[in-house]
Amino acid sequence: MRLRDFAERLLHATTLEQKLAGPEGGFHALDDRDPGPPQAWSAPSRPAELAIAPRSRRVKFPHPDNLAEPEMAVRALHTFANHELMAIELMAWALLAYPDAPPAFRAGMVRLIADEQRHLKLYVDRIRELGANFGDLPVNDHFWRCAPSLTSPLKWVCAMNLTFEQGNLDHAPYFEQHFRRVGDTVTAQILEQIFEDEIHHVGFGARWLKEYTPEGHSTFEIYCQNLTFHNEPARARGAIFNSDARRAAGLDEIFVEGMLRAT
Ligand SMILES: [Fe+2]
Ligand SMILES: [Fe+2]
Repeated sequence: MRLRDFAERLLHATTLEQKLAGPEGGFHALDDRDPGPPQAWSAPSRPAELAIAPRSRRVKFPHPDNLAEPEMAVRALHTFANHELMAIELMAWALLAYPDAPPAFRAGMVRLIADEQRHLKLYVDRIRELGANFGDLPVNDHFWRCAPSLTSPLKWVCAMNLTFEQGNLDHAPYFEQHFRRVGDTVTAQILEQIFEDEIHHVGFGARWLKEYTPEGHSTFEIYCQNLTFHNEPARARGAIFNSDARRAAGLDEIFVEGMLRAT
């Protein structure tokens, strides 16, 4: 299967099954010899129940103390699942928008998509175990609103890997602890697994940020210069600051220090 066809299918799928499906023949057989012309789509196709909802319909994120109530756990998991869905779509979007990106960048992106599909499936299944369905609650388009400003692979990694996913290095362990505290070890284990993968995803961003940082500049400086549309360093961190996870992802000391000072 051509990589561009797989990416198009992820973007234009109108069922959750198709958003979760791998390529025909498996990921290793994907053919990227014909990446096609650049196409920067402005919005994904969605199953009707996952159409982007107006702000007025959105539900409030639960307080961590209330996560023992299945309804509140579902609310949190629904938000996390939506992030995974948008990650899959924005990764497919990047493959179509940057046909000229280095082959290693495109191949790395495919590995990230496989992980994000696995994450989405974990959340979808857990939501079902708790008596609901992904799509029962309204979903936002937070990541998608950034897409038009992501005019280069560097801007893309700064937004996706190094802002949304970097933030998850703090958020995932934070919610893991809260789910564990209220006795939901099943959800806690899912968050733990996703956190481990997220270190690699931030690592993908760290690798390409380094690659695109000119001599004589710091990676943190280039990161800040390439942040677009309502992304800023403060959005890439949570209530607790996990320096070790950032170092494990390959972010250098100047970058970690810069993040620590970001308010
Ligand atoms: Fe993920
Ligand atoms: Fe990720």
